[in-house]
Amino acid sequence: MIDTKTRLLGLIGYPLGHSLSPLLHNQAIEEFNLNYVYLAFEVKPADLKKAVNAIRAFGIRGVNVTIPHKERVIPLLDEVEPLARKIGAVNTIVNDQGKLKGYNTDLSGLKRMLEEDASFVFKGKKAVIIGAGGAARAAGFTLCQAEIAEISLLNRTVKKAEQLAGEWSEYYPEIRIKGGGLSPENYYQELKNSNLLIDTTPVGMSPNTDEFPVIEENALHSGLLVVDLVYNPRETVLLKAARRAGAKTLGGAGMLLYQGIESFKLWTGKEPVVENWKKIL
Ligand code: ATR
Repeated sequence: MIDTKTRLLGLIGYPLGHSLSPLLHNQAIEEFNLNYVYLAFEVKPADLKKAVNAIRAFGIRGVNVTIPHKERVIPLLDEVEPLARKIGAVNTIVNDQGKLKGYNTDLSGLKRMLEEDASFVFKGKKAVIIGAGGAARAAGFTLCQAEIAEISLLNRTVKKAEQLAGEWSEYYPEIRIKGGGLSPENYYQELKNSNLLIDTTPVGMSPNTDEFPVIEENALHSGLLVVDLVYNPRETVLLKAARRAGAKTLGGAGMLLYQGIESFKLWTGKEPVVENWKKIL
């Protein structure tokens, strides 16, 4: 029941399209019988500052932040968790009595997905990441924090791969990290002795579902866990090929789910049941 004590949770982004977050979070609110409502707010970039002030003014307990605000929201907050600051992106804001603190649950979300849905162990392993945008940034920091042994970052624009790899190396000198281009040789060379491949590019995303990426199918092998952060379609062309090659596969839906669970925990202290959310997805 909505009453004078009901508090808001929400999502800010632009454009929002068909976000599943309201469905998931409101299910959990109901499950725990909490006095919250989760709504989606389409906030244009020019209105971001006003929206952040509204979080304070309306006493909104917290929001998820999505594209294109994840980076630009940082200077508008009172405090930012060190890792989110390193990454330069915030996807969750918690309002503690008017003080806004930024977090990035994409990291804990990705880590949990790999560990819980594929029993992946990071120590001593090698990963290949494709793409060098915001999603790749978060993925790389996740792997570094989890103490993976080696990362090879491949990107269409080589310079961006080298830059990002250089930045990670500065933070994590003990991890072997290098950047390169999307050449067939690089795919074979780098995937050969890898345990994990994470595709962070939008290639294969609906409506261009038959776009076969960025990858040499024959370079895929059964020793790999292949993760595609695209969640629509459920199984991208890359994941189909990976399955054919005998690799384990994970789609982006799990990531959506786990980062949402981590956000919900930050706001309410309660942990939504993964299986319930999986049913909704
Ligand atoms: P996000 O924040 O979601 O990661 P982004 O910052 O736009 O999105 O990054 C998208 C990444 O996918 C980039 O690394 C991009 O490569 P470039 O750096 O060369 O632009 C990569 N990408 C997008 N479309 C691609 C395609 N058709 N083939 C290969 N890489 C692609």
